[in-house]
Amino acid sequence: MNVLVVGGAGYIGSHMVQALLDAGHAPVTYDSLVTGHRDAVVGGAFVQGEMADAVALDAVLRAHAIDAVMHFASFIQVGESVQDPGKYYRNNLGCTLQLLDGMLRAGIRRFIFSSTAAIFGEPEYVPIDEKHPQRPINAYGASKQMVERILGDYDRAYGLRSVCLRYFNAAGAHPRGHIGERHEPETHLIPVLLQVAAGRRAHASIFGRDYDTPDGTCVRDYIHVLDLCQAHLCALEWLQRDGPSAAFNLGNGNGFSVLEVIRAVERVTGCALTIMDAPRRAGDPARLVADSRRIRCELGWTPRFTAIDTIVRDAWNFERRRTPP
Ligand code: UFG
Repeated sequence: MNVLVVGGAGYIGSHMVQALLDAGHAPVTYDSLVTGHRDAVVGGAFVQGEMADAVALDAVLRAHAIDAVMHFASFIQVGESVQDPGKYYRNNLGCTLQLLDGMLRAGIRRFIFSSTAAIFGEPEYVPIDEKHPQRPINAYGASKQMVERILGDYDRAYGLRSVCLRYFNAAGAHPRGHIGERHEPETHLIPVLLQVAAGRRAHASIFGRDYDTPDGTCVRDYIHVLDLCQAHLCALEWLQRDGPSAAFNLGNGNGFSVLEVIRAVERVTGCALTIMDAPRRAGDPARLVADSRRIRCELGWTPRFTAIDTIVRDAWNFERRRTPP
């Protein structure tokens, strides 16, 4: 299939382009390069453009006879979304709406959307299944929830079918080490710890040790970016087979605490990390773990890289390669 990968120069998008190529599809990356990197696009066509640029969007959708669209172009910093909600609603919501309208103009009716665990807000129970109440506590989660709602309406009204994949903590990198996570600034736990191991940061901080968890630090469900891309390929097949619109929680089902991740990074890198204690970060729930039984059952997806050491090893492989010795 010809697949438009919106945000294909970003962290997850660049791995998706590779996964589509490996699976025999033809990816077309559409990316503004505001946060993405041109050299992360490993193959397929590349078009630089904004989602809100209807002329450029219409041209790329038609020129490449696009069959399906995957959308990775979002702002993702939860804290920033609280400080500057307008930025999140304009981009994550407003621009997505323009993308969907472009799809309708071009007659494309298959869409795979990168949603998030943040639509659930403070969990009432874990693991979190698809029936869990949705009460996002920040503009990031709210913007994604609103898009999910819009997608339901667009299916009913216009027959645009979609699969929403609600990521928990995307992590790791391609095992070949040629693509990986490169956010500026980097706020995510694993790359921050690896930057300390690589000598690019003096120390890392643990945001709170007084949570109601076994060791007092937050527990998260880290899913390898390759497993995440595999879920997208399953979703693409599902839409190709005329499966109905659906939304799935996507994690590996295992929770790891911040301290467990620190130990994994020390094991994999062989470095003793300098770690400081810091206050809780606003908006961090104690535990976020996915119940992914539904996607396993309905789409036949099975994660392959569930061990935290494997996830950290692949991320380290990338971090080491890009750091000058
Ligand atoms: N953490 C630290 N120190 C750091 C960075 C993170 O202790 O330097 C902790 C956080 O407090 C959290 C855990 O490590 O408990 C993971 O934090 P990340 O920043 O790596 O990831 P988040 O869980 O905050 O964010 C992820 C996605 C978001 C999504 C969110 C859902 O990256 O896009 O889950 O709540 F919205």
